[in-house]
Amino acid sequence: MSKLILLVGGNGQVGKELQKTLKPYGNIIALARPAIDLSQPDTLVRAIGQYQPQIIINAAAYTAVDKAESEPELAEIINATAPKILAQEAAKQKAFLIHISTDYVFDGKNYCPYQETDATNPLNVYGTTKLSGEQAILHSRCSDFLILRTAWVFGAFGKSNFVKTMLRLGKEREEIRVVADQIGSPSWAKDIAETIAKLIPRLSSEITGIYHYTNSGVASWYDFAVAIFEEVQQLGFPLQVRRIVPITTAEYPTQARRPAYSVLSCAKIAAILGTHAPHWRQRLRKMLWELITNCPLLE
Ligand SMILES: NC(=O)c1ccc[n+]([C@@H]2O[C@H](COP(=O)([O-])OP(=O)(O)OC[C@H]3O[C@@H](n4cnc5c(N)ncnc54)[C@H](OP(=O)(O)O)[C@@H]3O)[C@@H](O)[C@H]2O)c1
Repeated sequence: MSKLILLVGGNGQVGKELQKTLKPYGNIIALARPAIDLSQPDTLVRAIGQYQPQIIINAAAYTAVDKAESEPELAEIINATAPKILAQEAAKQKAFLIHISTDYVFDGKNYCPYQETDATNPLNVYGTTKLSGEQAILHSRCSDFLILRTAWVFGAFGKSNFVKTMLRLGKEREEIRVVADQIGSPSWAKDIAETIAKLIPRLSSEITGIYHYTNSGVASWYDFAVAIFEEVQQLGFPLQVRRIVPITTAEYPTQARRPAYSVLSCAKIAAILGTHAPHWRQRLRKMLWELITNCPLLE
């Protein structure tokens, strides 16, 4: 029987992909502002009471990592209080809650990929509030939940991401300086959405808990930028850029500190899905093809 899925945050990078990908898996009600506002948690209570979904997916968040440093209260309400309310309401409705979290719950001092059980220690307000959101769900009365931590999300939708920023700068500048000492795993929003979709028929109390999911492989922001320009050059994208210069984090001061190494081990989810995620470079190529030619490649 078709499930009723309430998608909170249907307009972000992952939210838009979820709207497309989830279609075969149930009746999707995608809500975004102004119908729901995570800074007004009573709007969530009303929506969940009205629709009585069997599955709630939270793809909304306060994601402006630097701005969060000057708006910690708002980031806390959106990233921690709202997920707590979602968990409470999911428990009341006996709905399964899927919540998305981040690699920025870690401090980046590891030298090997972070496991789900590794100690968290966020370096910035965004990571701290996202961790509070995770903990609110873990300590709630909601027993059927899945927290999916992901990282370095890119895609065709949403207001901004690293790929879109590089394409804009690549058209405007001859030289682009990019941080080369932060390492992570770029992850295509479409793959995150497809992974959530694959999990939907298998949701049960046996797979409750925290999972990591990113595309395979690692990169620095510099490696990621070089790959973006190599790929779009092949597609005939007009570029001004001649030099991509690797710089250190210290040479690019930002309001928020970021982990130097935030690669996530995805072995736990790979064991459930029976497959490893595709490599980020391969998925970047496909995403850029779709973005630039506006013509999706067949799978
Ligand atoms: N982006 C990354 O690199 C990254 C990395 C790791 C984890 N994540 C996590 O992945 C999830 C999805 O991220 P994303 O990249 O898809 O984010 P995104 O593109 O920035 O989208 C976030 C969405 O949240 C919505 N939102 C923000 N404040 C809201 C509020 N008060 N009420 C209702 N909706 C609100 C936004 O709505 P509007 O469209 O109205 O602004 C937007 O649609 C988030 O949980 C994020 O923390 C992201």
